[in-house]
Amino acid sequence: MRIGFLQLRPKFGATKKNVKKVITLLSRVSDATIVLPELFNTGYLFRNKEELASLAERIPGGYTVTELKKIAKLKRLNLIFGMAQKAQRKYYNAAVYVSEKGKVEVYQKVHLFEREKLFFTRGKSLKVISSGEAKLGIMICFDWIFPEVSRSLTLKGAQILCHPSNLILPYAQAAMKTRCIENRVFAITANRIGTERMGTGSLTFTGGSQVVDPTGEVIVSAGDRSESLKVIDVNIEEAKNKNVTPANNIIDDRVPSLYSVICSKKK
Ligand code: ACM
Repeated sequence: MRIGFLQLRPKFGATKKNVKKVITLLSRVSDATIVLPELFNTGYLFRNKEELASLAERIPGGYTVTELKKIAKLKRLNLIFGMAQKAQRKYYNAAVYVSEKGKVEVYQKVHLFEREKLFFTRGKSLKVISSGEAKLGIMICFDWIFPEVSRSLTLKGAQILCHPSNLILPYAQAAMKTRCIENRVFAITANRIGTERMGTGSLTFTGGSQVVDPTGEVIVSAGDRSESLKVIDVNIEEAKNKNVTPANNIIDDRVPSLYSVICSKKK
């Protein structure tokens, strides 16, 4: 199975330009599952809710999903990409799955980061999608810091963690290696690069997109300066073997009766 990422430098607010660039870049590959960054079509640093409202789109009817469905079909791609979703009067930081056959699924980010809490509604469920070739567990950026997310996705059957990101802290790429080791899954983190400014503040995104295997090895990665499309062949069977030694199965050896504290907010 071929999997990979498209690391990008989106231009804030320029949805059509960002989507067109992605279509041009994706036309160079075929027969693969590719992850794009969080909010890839709009950029990240919304000034206020009105600005988010003017850039968010309906799913599946909006421009971005309509265009990406076309390239997914043409090039036989399964795509996972981040975008702002408009749903009734609410806005979600969403990751959309579009299959080569035109199937559309949405995950709404559960763990909102910093100013995202001002504009977005928190998602209420986790999502594992069957692509035919593999089971894809979807998480967005800051979801990485909660190991409960990747563990829950694994227990729901995920073999590949698909992780659209706009990372600004320097920890996630290293942490995702641990998420892979402790769950024996693959992970595709698709980050963005570039700096966005708003007033006197700015954010710089750290790049370093990567594919990690179930032993925690980074099997392909990008730097922090350029846009980058990378695809690699993986054997998905590796994510089905949960034995870390012949005597230790990371799923069967768990003792959930001792972990109930992590399923409660009570201290
Ligand atoms: C993040 O969740 N965008 C850091």
